[in-house]
Amino acid sequence: MTRIFISRDSTALSLGANQVAEALQQAADSKGLDVELVRNGSRGLFWLEPMIEVETAQGRVAYGPVQSQDVVELVEAGMLEGKEHALFLGDIEALPYFKDQSRLTFARVGITDPVSLDDYLAHEGYRGLKNALNMSAQDIVQQVTDSGLRGRGGAAFPTGIKWNTVLNAPAEQKYIVCNADEGDSGTFSDRMVMEGDPFVLIEGMTIAGLAVGATQGYIYLRVEYPHANVALNEAIANAYANGYLGDDILGSGKAFHLEVRLGAGAYICGEETSLLESLEGKRGLVRFKPPLPAIIGLFGKPTVVNNVVSLASVPIILDKGGDYYRDYGIGRSRGTLPLQLAGNIKYPGLFEAAFGLTLREILYDYGGGSASGRPIRAVQVGGPLGAYVPESQFDTPLDYEAFSAISAVVGHGGIVVHDDTVDMAAMARYAMEFCVEESCGKCTPCRIGSIRGVEVIDRIVKGIQKEQNTVLLEDLCDTMVNGSLCAMGGMTPYPVLSALKHFPEDFGLDKAVDAA
Ligand SMILES: Cc1cc2nc3c(=O)[nH]c(=O)nc-3n(C[C@H](O)[C@H](O)[C@H](O)COP(=O)(O)O)c2cc1C
Ligand code: SF4
Repeated sequence: MTRIFISRDSTALSLGANQVAEALQQAADSKGLDVELVRNGSRGLFWLEPMIEVETAQGRVAYGPVQSQDVVELVEAGMLEGKEHALFLGDIEALPYFKDQSRLTFARVGITDPVSLDDYLAHEGYRGLKNALNMSAQDIVQQVTDSGLRGRGGAAFPTGIKWNTVLNAPAEQKYIVCNADEGDSGTFSDRMVMEGDPFVLIEGMTIAGLAVGATQGYIYLRVEYPHANVALNEAIANAYANGYLGDDILGSGKAFHLEVRLGAGAYICGEETSLLESLEGKRGLVRFKPPLPAIIGLFGKPTVVNNVVSLASVPIILDKGGDYYRDYGIGRSRGTLPLQLAGNIKYPGLFEAAFGLTLREILYDYGGGSASGRPIRAVQVGGPLGAYVPESQFDTPLDYEAFSAISAVVGHGGIVVHDDTVDMAAMARYAMEFCVEESCGKCTPCRIGSIRGVEVIDRIVKGIQKEQNTVLLEDLCDTMVNGSLCAMGGMTPYPVLSALKHFPEDFGLDKAVDAA
């Protein structure tokens, strides 16, 4: 029997992976060939999806991108024996895009059957949990602190410190909440983990529960991720059935329960306090901080709120030790980050690398430059509230502090690329418009400021009192940065001011001498 892998990841599905799988099954049936189709996650090389990988005596070899009409010809050409063909890619792990990665969090994504517990265990799964079950809560938190892991959801807050706060908060009931709202533009690493290796998130959340003394976890999943919902629920059911979740985890006497809850479909529901409101069944309105959710969180109880990738990075830390993880990265940015390349880029997809690569290396060595072949002019890093980075700053290393020094953010590692045909005044206007749409409405700088922001940009672009309105826009942005209750209004000025600073000519203003 030949094992064949075709991804069940949303991106691959949108490119026709199901049709390819059906065509392959039909071709095999009609020829009486014995094949086992495994629907795995994606390797993240999206320009090659739908991709077929075949297990041969020489290892796994790939073909792609494959359309259903190519399948019969591929089978005739000897695909099941790993023979050459125009679509033959060979060993994916030998391609430079894949070979040069450091896959820690994504070690299994694209390799295993996402919902098979056996496959997970056969690929070093649950080793972190087994270690954690023999450790004290303090020691688990210490390993995470030692790893240098900082929250991958945006604010980059040290995960160990957050966990320590919840551990030390006395309460009968505590919660672990996974922020799986993933609302940022051009980001999909959370989705790929949940679709491609849901057990790693379940394991990370279970370890978090042991670390802080929480017995209940919720995954707040954005409603637009139906395939992740299916994979998560199937994996959770398998974990319960085999004693990895429940009242007595692996006979340890320790309990952890886990449920998926679907989100309300608003960007602001990704903000942690708004998320908690939504999880409690209320409208997603931002709460004042303090108190921190770590002290008074879900239903008023101490709560860890962590991003999917943050939690999914925990099993390897508990398996191999905090120092192992810490050895990757630079400065205070330790470990690895799954980078997501989208927009006008030749090789869109996801690759995981240690912090420290420069944007130029990411865009050209991995991304292959723009898809249009034109010069890359601006990239937005870290979602819709992230700054636009111009070419003169492409040598900035991916590092939280280095990005902060150029008034930009790493955020969730999403990178959206624009070539030289982009209109940066339109992009700035869009940032304000996005805030108008997505503001929760609780505070004035964000709710009203964003509407005024759109109007002022329109006036500048029309040439109405350009200089005065530019000063007004900068003043308005200052008010939003300093007067907003949360980062929605507080960061919307990032894309606006960066566009204005680096690309004033698009607003009809004098061209800046771009200082890096
Ligand atoms: C407007 C807004 C939207 C956010 N959306 C998300 C999101 O979709 N996913 C996420 O993990 N964090 C999001 N965050 C950050 C969370 O508030 C919070 O910092 C994070 O979930 C904490 O987890 P971490 O420490 O693991 O990063 C958002 C923040 C803001 C202000
Ligand atoms: S900044 Fe915007 S989203 Fe945040 S609390 Fe204020 S109104 Fe709500």
